[in-house]
Amino acid sequence: MNLNIKGRFRKAAFEVVWRLRFLENRLRLFMGLQRIESIFHRPTDMCESDRLMIYALVRGLRPKRVLEIGVRWGGSARIICAALQDNGEGFCVGLDPHVHDFRVPARKLYGRYELVCGYSPADVPDAIARLGTPVDLVFIDATHIYACALADVNAVCSYLAEGGHILMHDAFHVGIDAAVREFMKHNPDIEDLGILTRHAHQDMPVMYQGLRLLRVGKACTQQIITSAYGDKLPEDTKRLWNYNQYSLKIGQVREIDGRYEYVDEN
Ligand SMILES: C[S@@+](CC[C@H](N)C(=O)[O-])C[C@H]1O[C@@H](n2cnc3c(N)ncnc32)[C@H](O)[C@@H]1O
Repeated sequence: MNLNIKGRFRKAAFEVVWRLRFLENRLRLFMGLQRIESIFHRPTDMCESDRLMIYALVRGLRPKRVLEIGVRWGGSARIICAALQDNGEGFCVGLDPHVHDFRVPARKLYGRYELVCGYSPADVPDAIARLGTPVDLVFIDATHIYACALADVNAVCSYLAEGGHILMHDAFHVGIDAAVREFMKHNPDIEDLGILTRHAHQDMPVMYQGLRLLRVGKACTQQIITSAYGDKLPEDTKRLWNYNQYSLKIGQVREIDGRYEYVDEN
């Protein structure tokens, strides 16, 4: 492609900006200001893709109150706290009867974690009392059998925020799947968003690993989008349906009386 001087200059400036952004991100990682590296710290029972997914979910969903059932050494607790710290908000309470197994240094929890000694479902109310309500995200990774998983989801369900999520680990276990299906039968207001990861681990006769996400309530997409725009959302959103800066620049879209129209040249 032949570019004139202005075009070449713009391309070079663009390149410089991208390189600076890349360096900035490397620097943030190096200085520990992006804590995604928390996923590489062992020990944890979760496979790498599940660790990445839980970090991404906490970053993306920005929960303020998180409950973790089943903590063991604290591998997932460390990831959750790293993501909360990167978000700049949120607190997590972990519930496990074997608290002496926990081995994450306090400085890696960033003051965002409290470990409660106890069993689900009996001690869930105590853990919730320390966390406060409504809870935005519950991570269930305790005893991976049908009866316990069902008791865990039932125990937390009434504390969740509208639009809050339940994340179940070891979703490939047939007992966990059956527990979710049973739970769904009695809770029509819960949406099953499915299994988000695909790395099943075989430990016959059952499979382990995998994260399954459930949401309380129907998708509140409109509310999420509206609040993202704040007071910048025009009354007539239809006029923006075809808005795109690049499409405007290349003539794929034209502005006609404040509306953006797609120019179909085929
Ligand atoms: C698979 S480990 C948790 C691993 C941790 N989430 C991670 O990825 O780093 C399961 C833990 O659940 C705990 N546990 C078992 N039954 C429980 C119950 N009823 N309530 C709370 N924790 C339980 C066990 O003590 C064990 O530490």
